[in-house]
Amino acid sequence: MTQNTLTLRKPDDWHVHLRDGAMLEFVADFTARQFARAIVMPNLTPPVTTVDQAIAYRDRINAAVPAERGFTPLMTAYLTDTISADEIERGFREGVFTAAKLYPQNATTNSAHGVSDIANIRPVLERMEKLGIPLLVHGEVVSPDIDIFDREAVFLDTVLGPLLKEMPGLRVVLEHITTEHSVEFVKAGSENLAATITAHHLRIDRNDMLVGGIRPHAYCLPVAKRRLHKLALRKAAVSGNPKFFLGTDTAPHERHAKESACGCAGIFSAPVAIESYAQTFEEEGALGKLEGFASEFGPAFYRLPFNEGTITLKRQPTDIPAALEAGDIKIVPFHAGEAMAWRLVED
Ligand code: DOR
Ligand code: ZN
Repeated sequence: MTQNTLTLRKPDDWHVHLRDGAMLEFVADFTARQFARAIVMPNLTPPVTTVDQAIAYRDRINAAVPAERGFTPLMTAYLTDTISADEIERGFREGVFTAAKLYPQNATTNSAHGVSDIANIRPVLERMEKLGIPLLVHGEVVSPDIDIFDREAVFLDTVLGPLLKEMPGLRVVLEHITTEHSVEFVKAGSENLAATITAHHLRIDRNDMLVGGIRPHAYCLPVAKRRLHKLALRKAAVSGNPKFFLGTDTAPHERHAKESACGCAGIFSAPVAIESYAQTFEEEGALGKLEGFASEFGPAFYRLPFNEGTITLKRQPTDIPAALEAGDIKIVPFHAGEAMAWRLVED
């Protein structure tokens, strides 16, 4: 019998870009309407590198979300070559920083202040290992001689692999994994290593971006790889292995900034995130595995309680608009122009 409703323990999003200013006002509730908590990326301009900046940003997020949602933003520190271990420790002890994010310098949007050499943050990583603060990793090397499709694999081989050997107690989330190699790397790692998987990397491969014309709305970083990698990610997501959990990496950019001769990286999946995951899990014959992936494995890794409430999805074909607009801002969402099978029921 076909299942027509799906009730899940309220999920969390372990990787979001909420931006700031008018964009924050526009996008925040798309996340808050479905997720109880979200790990908020710190790649603003300027980046969130201090406890005070994180508190101020958290206040702006809370002001942008209707109070009745009961949404909790979980803040992260942006690691730079010069950030102090004491600042990270203070933020963690004061309940402001849930984790710290490693962007290799110039790897992606607003990463110019990122880390140029992991050796520069060694004392910070040692402190994080000691205190159990999760390190969230954008796992790509940025070297002009490395092909963009190989950046993630080379990062694991040359940076993350050696780091985990030196600091086995460091708790690491490899964010938005895109390859079979990463799936195997995470599976083979200790219980201190986990990974997030985006909704879009479960559905698009590089053909979706490049065949029949160049499609800027399918462009993100790490870039989508060959189909076989997408299939490996789908298998990992539905496997029930708690090392893999939900992190959308929803990353809104205005339409004109994506549809450009040099378009920005990022896919705005927040308006359709849980529906998209549900569609993928259903296609894999694994709807029953969605709750673990979306609502349980993340909090277990972050050592946080499970959420108490639930959300319900209904089988109800829903057309996703070509663009979403607020004031002057126009953004093309993931699945634009498609009909989706599931819809989040809002009370
Ligand atoms: O596609 C991406 N967009 N990947 C990232 O790592 C950053 C993000 C953004 O901030 O736009
Ligand atoms: Zn991201």
